[in-house]
Amino acid sequence: MEKQKKFEKVMEIIERNGANAARLIPILQEIQDEYRYLPEEIMDFTATCLKIPPARVYGVATFYSHFALAPKGKYIIKVCDGTACHVKRSETLIDAIQKKLKLSDGKNTTDDMLFTMETVSCLGACGLAPVVVINEDIYGQMTADKVTAVLEGIIKKEAANNANN
Ligand code: FES
Repeated sequence: MEKQKKFEKVMEIIERNGANAARLIPILQEIQDEYRYLPEEIMDFTATCLKIPPARVYGVATFYSHFALAPKGKYIIKVCDGTACHVKRSETLIDAIQKKLKLSDGKNTTDDMLFTMETVSCLGACGLAPVVVINEDIYGQMTADKVTAVLEGIIKKEAANNANN
């Protein structure tokens, strides 16, 4: 049932785009917006619907760095490690986040799929360095303590939401 639902969403997206192989990139973008990454079976399914080889879909998905082939957390934490942020010790933020969320350089998503941490180069807000962006929210002049408090707030909010559901 869950699985069928999963494919219904993709079918909707493909139909909306006229099942047009020339629209592969926007289709993949919409699929990623929906699932937060590109699941393998969905890419195969998309190839079948668009009547193109799966290798073409995989080729596009791996070429553009904003496509994710592995599941990501509900909250994507982007820690800026561009020059201005690096000078203002962005690595202390990375350490604090990894410690709080039990992540490491080889593991950037939490087991409960709540958080994924990524480092990025300049977010274009150098005046606020060091900068962290969590989903759509920008946090400037961050410290290890402040970023830990933000994460704790999100964890609390999520726990409360789960308790209410
Ligand atoms: S270097 Fe971090 S926002 Fe520019």
